[in-house]
Amino acid sequence: MIGEPDAPHGQPTASDGLHGSDGAIVAGRDVNNSSTHYVQAQQAFVLPAEAYAPIPDDAAGRGISNIEQSGLFVGRSEELSALDAAFADPGEVVVHAVHGLGGVGKSALAARWATGRSEAVRWWVTADTEAAVDAGIAALARALQPGLTGLPAELQAERALRWLADHRSRWLLVLDNVEDRADIRPLLDRVSGGRVLVTTRLASGWHRHATTIRLGVLDPADAVRLFTRVLTLHGSRNTDGVHMVCAELGHLALAVEQAAAYCAETGTSPNAYLDMLDRWPAEMFDAAAQGGDSTRTIARIWRLTLDRLTDTPLAGDLLRLLAWYAPDRIPRDLLNGVAAPPRLAAAIGQLAAYNMVTDNHDGTLSVHRLVQALARTPDPHDSHRRADDISRARDHAAGLLAAAYPDDSHNPANWPRYQALLPHTDALTTHHTPDHDTVHTAAALTQAAAYRQEQGALSPALHAHQRALTTCERVLGADHPDTLASRSNLAAAYMSVGDLGRAIPL
Ligand SMILES: Nc1ncnc2c1ncn2[C@@H]1O[C@H](COP(=O)(O)OP(=O)(O)OP(=O)(O)O)[C@@H](O)[C@H]1O
Ligand SMILES: [Mg+2]
Repeated sequence: MIGEPDAPHGQPTASDGLHGSDGAIVAGRDVNNSSTHYVQAQQAFVLPAEAYAPIPDDAAGRGISNIEQSGLFVGRSEELSALDAAFADPGEVVVHAVHGLGGVGKSALAARWATGRSEAVRWWVTADTEAAVDAGIAALARALQPGLTGLPAELQAERALRWLADHRSRWLLVLDNVEDRADIRPLLDRVSGGRVLVTTRLASGWHRHATTIRLGVLDPADAVRLFTRVLTLHGSRNTDGVHMVCAELGHLALAVEQAAAYCAETGTSPNAYLDMLDRWPAEMFDAAAQGGDSTRTIARIWRLTLDRLTDTPLAGDLLRLLAWYAPDRIPRDLLNGVAAPPRLAAAIGQLAAYNMVTDNHDGTLSVHRLVQALARTPDPHDSHRRADDISRARDHAAGLLAAAYPDDSHNPANWPRYQALLPHTDALTTHHTPDHDTVHTAAALTQAAAYRQEQGALSPALHAHQRALTTCERVLGADHPDTLASRSNLAAAYMSVGDLGRAIPL
């Protein structure tokens, strides 16, 4: 909004624009009578002549970009090719959104891809708020035409938008970290004929606006490469255990990079790091190396995402519940009964929308193992990770598992169900010590053991029966019918491995 020239050096009022002696308008509707605004306005008073003309056609002559390439990029060749293919369409404005869990590497991928492009303008816009989008576009205007610097940002952005509209196919915008589609809507409504790559943690709601590409974790070998490169950046180091650390971190780029930087800086070996992760998970999830971005630790990303889900409290409950199972192929019907179906569907939908959970659309859900590990780790500073909520979720998870097992392990028709529940029973029982087992844990263990016996896996079955009996004795007492049944199961398991000496006393 640019007004007409007026009397030079006029005192600004709330309704006036400010006018330079050469007739330039230098401030718009935000001006009020405060002296601060007036001084600021005066400082921006005189604009060079080029500020009045549209941004010239050749403004991007030798190419303009604010995108920095990371020196340590690994892997992602398939994803880079997929992006090339996705943007090969010469049509109108082409918008693609790369979505995925926080820290998975969306921005790194976008930066890598964008630096290899040939558009005259390749511009990175932080897009987590509408104001940030406006600021990013205004910065583009200044890069195209430095003389616009004194103009209000709103007018700068307007100029840039006009240039983009007039120079189809000459530009590429990366809108990084979109949290709300509404924030980029006004921009997308104004431009045409260019290329827009969005990165976002939001999985859903894009179908009308963009084609989506879901970004998964790093290939294990690439994760190891990234860890090793960061670890050995300043000299050779002991790399034993790097594979294990990367696997423990679920090959999540942010976690891998931060763990490696931590090890490099503190002289911690990968194996020692693994041990620390096991013993002090809360601290390690929140640890960033000096000079690293401490606001970008896994724990903080997780907390911010859950903060956005506070209007769906069930989402947090579900996440804490799912945290006790194995990360992949969690039967969705385990959750039946946790809430009425519409509420349940909405909460799972919300978690999937924020990429905290993946709906595999085959009746199973997956949760990244690091998200699970966080959800199981109490932290007094995080309202989503209160110790009592976490233990309640653990007991609830055991109850759901116990209820989900079929009754008859001899019937082959039930075996697929046993097979599907087995990894989740194993995960649940390895994620906590036996003294936290409930009768439901014991029931799930007993069912899993019965199936294992049926399949000839006698030794793990025996251990499960032992643990189940210990729990029954502790919780129900020595003479409870369920304890007696558990004792007899254990005796049978001893017999099956030929250990009559132990079977008979039971
Ligand atoms: N392919 C890669 N090679 C090397 N480093 C990577 C790679 N992918 C990600 N990283 C590093 O991992 C960290 C997290 O990646 P990035 O910031 O791209 O994640 P993101 O998915 O954009 O996260 P957020 O949702 O928080 O924005 C960054 O420091 C980045 O440099
Ligand atoms: Mg990002």
